[in-house]
Amino acid sequence: MIKLANDLYYVGVKDPDLKTFDVIVPTETGTTYNAYLLRGEKTVLFETVHDDFADELLENIREICPAEDIDIIVCDHTEPDHSGALHKILDINPDVTVYGSAAALKNLSNILNRDFNKCVAKNNSELDIGGYTLKFIWAPNLHWPDSIFTFCKELGAVFTCDFLGCHYCGETVDEDISDTAGYDTELARYYKYIFGVFPAAVKNGLSLIRSLSPALVCTSHGPVLRRDIEKVCGCYDKWSEPVVQSGKISVFYVSCYGYTAAMAQALAEGARSAGCEVGVYEITAASDAEIDEALRTSAAYMFGSPTLNRDALPPVWSVLGSVSAVADRNKPALIFGSYGWSGEACANLAARAQGLGLKVDEELCRVCFKPSEEDLEKLRSKGSAFAAALLSQ
Ligand SMILES: Cc1cc2nc3c(=O)[nH]c(=O)nc-3n(C[C@H](O)[C@H](O)[C@H](O)COP(=O)(O)O)c2cc1C
Ligand SMILES: [Fe+2]
Ligand SMILES: [Fe+2]
Repeated sequence: MIKLANDLYYVGVKDPDLKTFDVIVPTETGTTYNAYLLRGEKTVLFETVHDDFADELLENIREICPAEDIDIIVCDHTEPDHSGALHKILDINPDVTVYGSAAALKNLSNILNRDFNKCVAKNNSELDIGGYTLKFIWAPNLHWPDSIFTFCKELGAVFTCDFLGCHYCGETVDEDISDTAGYDTELARYYKYIFGVFPAAVKNGLSLIRSLSPALVCTSHGPVLRRDIEKVCGCYDKWSEPVVQSGKISVFYVSCYGYTAAMAQALAEGARSAGCEVGVYEITAASDAEIDEALRTSAAYMFGSPTLNRDALPPVWSVLGSVSAVADRNKPALIFGSYGWSGEACANLAARAQGLGLKVDEELCRVCFKPSEEDLEKLRSKGSAFAAALLSQ
């Protein structure tokens, strides 16, 4: 337990041994699950922690008051790293009322699978807890539809849950970031994985936070921010700038004997002749970083694979796996490839691309074995038409 301000206590826990978060986010220093207790006439708990640490949370709370004294739990976001321990508090104190957005309360019904006292935290509504006032502010898609911020006016403290947080487990959570370089690395990585696909929501969140001029940002992971609030907001601001370059196309392909490669070059030539900037990537020769950059900054894609054993080849599946079904939604895509007899690769890739929300060109560009000069000319025309449609969007 740490006292952060008058009547405001940190009751969260450290998880320094965590190696990866949510299956895919590396966490080199582990993380923390932050929770806060505010004692007005009513006692309010902001967030809980991961279920594995429920007992530690309860011990921290009991240093201040019995868990039975909690009147209100505010769930700013319901991912189980923050709602996981809620069931244990409800076991001890079934009279507590849970506040959250309508989406959050719905999620909690399906996470807790039991009845509980609930109250919708309406956007911009205020709750007087005796001595302190809480204002609820909707912040959807930061990073779930359920996300809200809660602002305690008297303390100038805003509870943002994941927003402006970081998977960083230092000595203390009270803004003593002794390892600045380590923290900065983790902050950037956290942003990329958690918020990178929601740039517009991030801009909205930043303007909400800045309009409050908070003295204290109580995040749900890593340090509580005081001095560094504007530094972190500035990073989020920079990282959420638009990156897609209109008129930029990336062509990703692999090829065993050069046939699909020749198709890629012809499509690219055509697209360039129509005025697009076109990058061509033989996937196994490109680095992950190059491919990632090309995916994020391109306005449209082309994917090419020969058919081997009735399917496309794994490197192309891997690139499609890195397309974001959120951030890259609706980008035009063209599918091409050489085949020998059955030629399933193109249709299979098209189905996956469609599932990701890409606007897949109806014409699959397939050539049996080696493209003839006539085939190549058709592909140049196709590339040119695809590019012209992109430029006229
Ligand atoms: C191991 C292997 C398996 C193949 N399996 C299929 C197949 O199932 N269906 C098909 O249409 N072509 C199949 N092919 C033929 C290739 O798709 C064809 O040779 C194509 O032109 C190769 O184009 P590339 O030079 O771009 O790799 C196979 C080729 C190899 C080497
Ligand atoms: Fe989350
Ligand atoms: Fe989280």
